[in-house]
Parts: sequence; C-alpha cells; structure tokens
Amino acid sequence: MSINAETLRKQLEEKKPVFILDVRPKEQREEWQIPGGNYIDAYKRLNEGDASVLDEIAIPENTEVITVCAAGRTSQIAASELRKKGIEAFSLEGGMKSWSLAWNTATLVFNNFEIIQLRRTGKGCLSYIITSNSEAVIVDASLSPAVYEQILVEKNLSLKFLLETHIHADHLSRAKLLAEKNNVPLYLPVPNKVSFAFKPVEDGNVFKTGNIEIKSISTPGHTLESMCYMIDDKILLTGDTLFIDGVGRPDLKSNEEETKAKAKTLYASLQKILSLPGDTIVLPAHTGKPVNFDNKVLQATLATIKSTVPMLQLSEEAFVQTILQRIPSTPANYLTIVEKNLTGDFSDINPVDLEAGANRCAIS
Ligand SMILES: [Fe+2]
Repeated sequence: MSINAETLRKQLEEKKPVFILDVRPKEQREEWQIPGGNYIDAYKRLNEGDASVLDEIAIPENTEVITVCAAGRTSQIAASELRKKGIEAFSLEGGMKSWSLAWNTATLVFNNFEIIQLRRTGKGCLSYIITSNSEAVIVDASLSPAVYEQILVEKNLSLKFLLETHIHADHLSRAKLLAEKNNVPLYLPVPNKVSFAFKPVEDGNVFKTGNIEIKSISTPGHTLESMCYMIDDKILLTGDTLFIDGVGRPDLKSNEEETKAKAKTLYASLQKILSLPGDTIVLPAHTGKPVNFDNKVLQATLATIKSTVPMLQLSEEAFVQTILQRIPSTPANYLTIVEKNLTGDFSDINPVDLEAGANRCAIS
C-alpha cells in the first residue's frame, strides 16, 4: 500500500493528522526531511529482515502512518510490517526523491499587490508570484509549470511575464517552459550564456504590472548576472545573493582566484543592498531547511538581517577570507543543471533524478 507525494502534500496542507515515519539512515535524515516527521533508525534492521525495530516507536492510535525512505523501497517493507500489526500504513512512493517536488505556499498582502511565496519544501527553492490588479509575474520558477498555472487559474490572474534572478545551478528553471506555454516574455539578467531567445534585464530596468513597479538592481557576486528585484519600494527579491540567514556562495564554476574576485564583487553588491531602507522586506530564492506547512512567509527585514548575520558586519578583507573558509560542498549535478538551464532543453532528462540532493546555496 502506498501514497504518492502529491497526496501526502495535500494531506499536510489540509492539516490532516498523519504520522510520518522516516526509516532512512541517519545521515540522510539529517540532510533533509519532511516537516513534522518522526524518525527511527531502522534502515539496516529492516533490510536484514528484523522488523522488531518498529516496536521501538510509539505510534498514536487511529492515525495513518506514512513510511518514508530515499526511493520508496525500504519504506514498503516498513509499511507492510506495520500493517501486520494492524496499523494503517502507507509507503511514500518514490521516497524523498519524489518528495523533492512537494511544495506549499504563504502570501504577503499589501494594499495594491500580493506576493505568493511558493516553497519547494522538498528542496528549499523559493519562487514567487507577484500579483496586482489581476495581473501576475512569476519570479524564479522552480516547480512544475502546472503548479503556477493552477494558482493563476484559481486566483483568476493573467500572467504577464517571467523574471529570473540568475541562471540557477541547483534546480532546473521552469521559466522558459512557462513563458512558452503561456506565450509571455521571459526576462533574464545579463551577461549570461543562455542559448535561447529571451529579453535581457540590466541594472535599473523598470517593469510595470498592475498598479506597481518592479525595479532591477544589479548585484553580481553569486553569479555575474545576479539581479535583485525591488517591488513597489517595499520588497526586495534577492535571489541567491542574500538569504535571511546568510549570503550567497560565489564559488560555483570558479577556481580559487575567481572565487576570491567574485567574493569581493559579492561584498560590494551586499553593501549596495544594505544601503536600501532597513524596513525593506527581503524574500530570497532559497532556504536551507525544509519549509513547514504553516503558511508563514519566510522573510526578514534588511535591518534584521544586517544585525543577525555576522558575515554582513565584516570588512571586505575579512568577508572574502570567511567566504573562502566556509564554502559548503558543491550541490549535486550542478554543472549539468547549469548546462540544461543554458540550453533550456530538458527533453532527455528526468528532473527529479537530476535535482536530487539538498540545497547548499548559502554561506552563514
Ligand atoms: Fe543560485
């Protein structure tokens, strides 16, 4: 008996009580989890045929159990063993790999516009739908196009264009697909090496949609083309340049000298961002943790980030040195992901296979 990721996602969204039982090896569990899940170190024993390990966890009565592993095989053993004990258990089909595409939303509401934050809880990617006067703009689309299209239909919104903060290395951008399907322009920051047609974004461009303006602010460092977007002078979409709890990594596709130079450039860009009003709300493109189904927007003001992220209080020299010391391990398959995002052709790949792995975009 199994359940697919979309069904579990809906159950969590509807706050239906389920007992998620993760049976993966500990190190996998520590890397990424399903929010609100429970854990038992049962992987080895289940695979050795010792189901007594499942007696070691108390399962609440009359609650559906969803067993979870990396790809949905050991979780099947766990589910059938629990069923033998009379517990209604289902195995998560495709395991955490399938869960990678699971998502939830939270919304910020202002007088003349709204921002829907779409959180890919299975991977940590954050994308946005900006709406004003029934018009919509999508930024950093990282989920299946159908997810955005469903929200557009539900809210009766007309998609006007798509924006990207940079060429992504951790996930496949769904912006080109969405632009083509909906016959709207795709704007990408330059300089970039994309080989398909797009409209370029440069520093200081102004986009109008509904009753608001979106202004581009060039913030190179994480990548050369990285761009932030200021919405109605209140909200700053920072891509992978600045996170709520850290700064972007400048090392991908770079040797040590290039990383050093990009870290300096990132420092200058962060100073530029920090010179904006302190009450500006920062909405980044990633989070390093699974996102709860709590409908709370992941956000912080610039003033808060400035006072809580020590990296932002360093001199340029110390900043560059600290970056070089703290570079996290490189994300899985990032070279292939970048290449796919540059050609926009995903026809020969399985996105979930390629995107597998935790998000490692931030340095804090
Ligand atoms: Fe990135």
